[in-house]
Amino acid sequence: MGRRTAWVGTSWKMNKGPAEAVVAARALAELSIPPHVQPFVVPPFTSLKDVCSILRDKNILVGAQNMHWENEGAWTGEVSPPMVKECGAALVELGHSERRTYFGETDQTVNLKVLAALKYGLKPLVCIGDTQEEYAFNVTNEVLARQVKIALHGVKAHEFENILLAYEPVWAIGEKGRPAETDFVQNCHEQVRQTLIELAGEETAERIPVLYGGSVNLENAPHYAALPNVDGVFVGRAAWPVAGFKAIIESIAT
Ligand code: PGA
Repeated sequence: MGRRTAWVGTSWKMNKGPAEAVVAARALAELSIPPHVQPFVVPPFTSLKDVCSILRDKNILVGAQNMHWENEGAWTGEVSPPMVKECGAALVELGHSERRTYFGETDQTVNLKVLAALKYGLKPLVCIGDTQEEYAFNVTNEVLARQVKIALHGVKAHEFENILLAYEPVWAIGEKGRPAETDFVQNCHEQVRQTLIELAGEETAERIPVLYGGSVNLENAPHYAALPNVDGVFVGRAAWPVAGFKAIIESIAT
């Protein structure tokens, strides 16, 4: 069996407007990507089309940070799956904790969006994670199982292999976050894999990449990526500078 692909992605969140994003995308286009690594970058909507064009023939996938589930209509401020697709994006990030915490995203809306993404040929990158409170009360496994089951409800057998998951403990994300212990991450990913096996069967579940995210940096990235059932990392701050993203990619490849 060949080596598993290591996914390394970064969401720029609300950073890099059109001009800055173009500069970053041109620098990304120059990177040489090691074998067995699949990088992806998730710019804000205003930069999506430009970043997609610059990276079109490169081995770096581009995604949107969110989208609506309907294909058109009176939804002020929203962006539809066909719009994301038309920009040239390959994937779409759904259910990030910042969307759940500040913008009312729920497991049910994530599910609608997952089904819409699959319908339009976009790879859903579904973010799941326990809050500090859920972690403290030791219900992380139950929370993750629930989030995965609702997010993937109604996904057809042949569609499961288009799914990407990212486990991102809410308490590990951002300036105030603390990186999770590797033992803890390993256990969570094992539980997530079990849930995927329940939903999709063993063979298919094995093919669904499950990434880890939350205060990932150059030092800890290779440790997370080496864990069983961890198929790569989803990075924020440490990968916003292209040099940081490059260094993390290289740290995982070697
Ligand atoms: P961070 O963000 O690496 O800056 O903690 C991670 C994320 O939100 O995916």
